[in-house]
Amino acid sequence: MWGGRFSDGPDAIMEEINASIGFDRRLAREDVAGSRAHAAMLAKAGVITDADAAAIDQGLLTVLSEIEEGRFAFSRALEDIHMNVESRLKALIGEPAGRLHTGRSRNDQVAVDFRMWVRARCDEAMAGLEALMRALVAQAEGREGMVMPGFTHLQSAQPVTWGHHMMAYVEMFGRDLSRFRDARARMNECPLGAAALAGTSFPIDREMTAKALGFDRPTANSLDSVADRDFALEYLAAASITATHLSRLSEELVIWSSAQFRFARLSDRFTTGSSIMPQKRNPDAAELARAKVGRILGAFVALSTVIKGLALTYSKDMQEDKEPVFDAADSLALALAAMTGMLGDLAPNETRLREAAGAGFATATDLADWLVRALGLPFREAHHVTGALVKRAEERGAELSDLTLEEMRAVEPRITEAVYSVLTVEASVASRMSYGGTAPARVKEQVARWKERLA
Ligand code: ARG
Repeated sequence: MWGGRFSDGPDAIMEEINASIGFDRRLAREDVAGSRAHAAMLAKAGVITDADAAAIDQGLLTVLSEIEEGRFAFSRALEDIHMNVESRLKALIGEPAGRLHTGRSRNDQVAVDFRMWVRARCDEAMAGLEALMRALVAQAEGREGMVMPGFTHLQSAQPVTWGHHMMAYVEMFGRDLSRFRDARARMNECPLGAAALAGTSFPIDREMTAKALGFDRPTANSLDSVADRDFALEYLAAASITATHLSRLSEELVIWSSAQFRFARLSDRFTTGSSIMPQKRNPDAAELARAKVGRILGAFVALSTVIKGLALTYSKDMQEDKEPVFDAADSLALALAAMTGMLGDLAPNETRLREAAGAGFATATDLADWLVRALGLPFREAHHVTGALVKRAEERGAELSDLTLEEMRAVEPRITEAVYSVLTVEASVASRMSYGGTAPARVKEQVARWKERLA
């Protein structure tokens, strides 16, 4: 393909370090699509004949079917997917194949192929996130009032509801979804036609190829078009944040399914047994989904480090862009699918959640708020009084609602019988009616809003 001025072939190590066909064969479909659009445009622009364009198009379709059916003989000597495809095209159709590369370069070719591939992974991530969000909404619906402990510092804080907790993740994954949507919109410009770096002297029609390949418009600067990979970085950034969120949910599933918590049960379909301890149900899928952020964030760090400090425009360093992205995309798709599956089967333990919700003086804030509302105490003082009552209850191993009126009055004489009405977990959650709060009525609104958005 480029041997004209060379008298010697490459060293074996040179061939090994230089070749990308081992991984960039994953771009075959995009490569063929890009070449078909380019050939059709060249014919329309009068750069090649219609007969040559037709032969190229037919040949490319044959090459693609050979690849997809596993009948294609990839060659490392041909370096990458672009030259493997072109070489096979030459063998199939002869001379017209040599006209395909007019007015383009592998630099804009790889840029357009990879952009289309990442764009498809954005679509896949968005679909995966929507499926996961639907599973979370299904977990929340009908359980808007199922009380459970709310935590800060993993210490019992205030009672919340299962529905509220599930909907918190819907908000997170909803933002992840919008990050992929934004990234996709930004990357949807076509670099084909930038050629090696400076554009081309052939009368190409970049609008035409952009449209044929589903882009909104051609990229505006040919140097930038072949030099930059921020579309892949943005994809990886969005993927890393999503994976971070998945790891938090995974961590909760691991904790909740433990014998000590028993908040929820993962299904047999998403757990494994132990070969030595018969009682075990290990949450492996949750653990692996928790771990995937390591390689996905690693991919972001890898690619940004490769691009960092590269002088414009294309440098071969950029061939190192693909493997991290491929691996991150595979990992993300798998983690999203596993999480969606786990949530579909997840069974909350209502009795246990209710019991845990009341433990650890979870309604202490409600007591303090009552002292403010009913007795007109300043909140700071109410906080102090409540602290003394918690201490008292703790000393005799009781909950706040177990304290007698006499015991309470020993700390604050104005307390009345009415205080007990705010000390139940049901009253506590029902009272949190502020927008976005845990009151079942509020959670129902969140569920309804997201159901509509995800329909
Ligand atoms: N395999 C190369 C890559 O993935 C294609 C572009 C090669 N361009 C070049 N000028 N050598 O980046």
